[in-house]
Amino acid sequence: MTLLQIHEVSKAFGGLQALNRVSLTVDEGEIVGLIGPNGSGKSTLFNVITGTIPATSGRIIFRDEDITGLQAHQIAQRGMGRTFQTVRPFMNLTTAQNVVAAILYCDTTIQSRHHAEKQAREILAYVGLLDEADSLASKLTIMQRKWLEVARALATNPKLLLLDEFMAGLNPTEIQLAVERVRKFRDEMDITIIIVEHIMKAITNCSDRIIVLNAGSKIAEGTPEAVVQDTHVIAAYLGGSHAKNR
Ligand SMILES: Nc1ncnc2c1ncn2[C@@H]1O[C@H](COP(=O)(O)OP(=O)(O)OP(=O)(O)O)[C@@H](O)[C@H]1O
Ligand SMILES: [Mg+2]
Repeated sequence: MTLLQIHEVSKAFGGLQALNRVSLTVDEGEIVGLIGPNGSGKSTLFNVITGTIPATSGRIIFRDEDITGLQAHQIAQRGMGRTFQTVRPFMNLTTAQNVVAAILYCDTTIQSRHHAEKQAREILAYVGLLDEADSLASKLTIMQRKWLEVARALATNPKLLLLDEFMAGLNPTEIQLAVERVRKFRDEMDITIIIVEHIMKAITNCSDRIIVLNAGSKIAEGTPEAVVQDTHVIAAYLGGSHAKNR
């Protein structure tokens, strides 16, 4: 069943066309990798899908409902969770309190704060942060803050989870663990996932399907095996690394 449909979505920032008529669909239960060089529009696409910023044109259908133009909290309440590329926990709250805040943001029916706290600890256990539950977020390592960001996204009880480069800076062992956890979110929590990562090994290990953006346009889509051999994709990445090395 189709969970998300993006129809010809464009986003302009002044004269800059950050997204150019991007269309894609995501089926329930999929893990879709979204890749592309720096500045190709990946985070902008997440921002537009989640209502963080409005699209210039195009339509977004989520769970058979047209959500184009809705506010971020309205979209979150409909079952969409996300992480931000730059993590921003509430530093003066504990790890558990950060997750409780995310639960209460989305679940207006929650019976009691006690119940939310119990739920928060379950989610923290899932991402390996239970031992840090009562530590201030400001005391967490960068990696732990990234997992807290994922926990906060899970706390909104999403059907669709958008992960924006949360593996950046992790070592190979941590990346392997992260890939396993992402697959567990799908397999055990029944969450469909779109994941942005630059680490090719992580994205190919994680994803059922990969979509490639370049300069705001979708240039390729397919299985990880097919996409890594696509000449357009290789050209886009080579272009990106040449540009960076200049
Ligand atoms: N709020 C904004 N205002 C103006 N320009 C923006 C804004 N957000 C993004 N851009 C521009 O839009 C383009 C796409 O940026 P975006 O952050 O979506 O790329 P990205 O693919 O996520 O890159 P990265 O891999 O570096 O995270 C870039 O040229 C960026 O400078
Ligand atoms: Mg980005």
